Amino acid sequence: MNIKQLAAEKAVDWVEDGMTIGLGTGSTAVYAIRKIGELVQQGMRIQAVATSVESEKLARELSIPILPFAEVGMIDLTIDGADEVDPDLNLIKGGGGALLREKIVATRSRQLMIVAGENKVVKRLGEFPLPVEVVTFAHEWTIEKLASLGCTPVLRKKEDGDVFVTDNGNYTVDCHFKEILNPARMHRQLNDIAGVVDNGLFVGLASAAVVAYNSGTIEVRR
Ligand code: A5P
Repeated sequence: MNIKQLAAEKAVDWVEDGMTIGLGTGSTAVYAIRKIGELVQQGMRIQAVATSVESEKLARELSIPILPFAEVGMIDLTIDGADEVDPDLNLIKGGGGALLREKIVATRSRQLMIVAGENKVVKRLGEFPLPVEVVTFAHEWTIEKLASLGCTPVLRKKEDGDVFVTDNGNYTVDCHFKEILNPARMHRQLNDIAGVVDNGLFVGLASAAVVAYNSGTIEVRR
């Protein structure tokens, strides 16, 4: 079993009958969704919301009941991956392009449990390029403003060279900072720019991180 699967399946231990679950996005979260699918097939009664079109499709294939957002009060537990996790459980997310829905779901969750291999754990955020979701209108101007915060911004493209478009019809700009000294301040500065929808810094949102090591051990950080 690889470390992504190890972390993701461990986190599913916290899923209980009757819960409303937030389903994350990305190659680690997929293992959690598959495990939750197994529990549903064994008779566990849960309901879920998904953080991307891709995760919703997988959940439906596995017969996990998906609720319309308007019918959801609080989400009991969301299990999601991350690109970087710092010692305070601040995160960079959005490498998979789903940061906006992930953040909306995270802020509606009683618990956000991050699942990650040890390679995602960092002392300081920023080595991984920070994804920022921007509206398409005049995105060149928004990108200029992003650069003024001290990063090198790169408009995300797909392998075929077309611009990557998010599930929400926006663009993603990957901002190369190298290091982010004050994630809370940077979060505010980014979201103050007109044209920015949201950014991939998750500050104070994660309640726990399940980290799996190549040695096979699992650590739960809180
Ligand atoms: C999706 O937009 C992201 O936030 C993912 O959760 C993050 O990129 C981690 O993805 P992997 O589990 O594929 O590394």
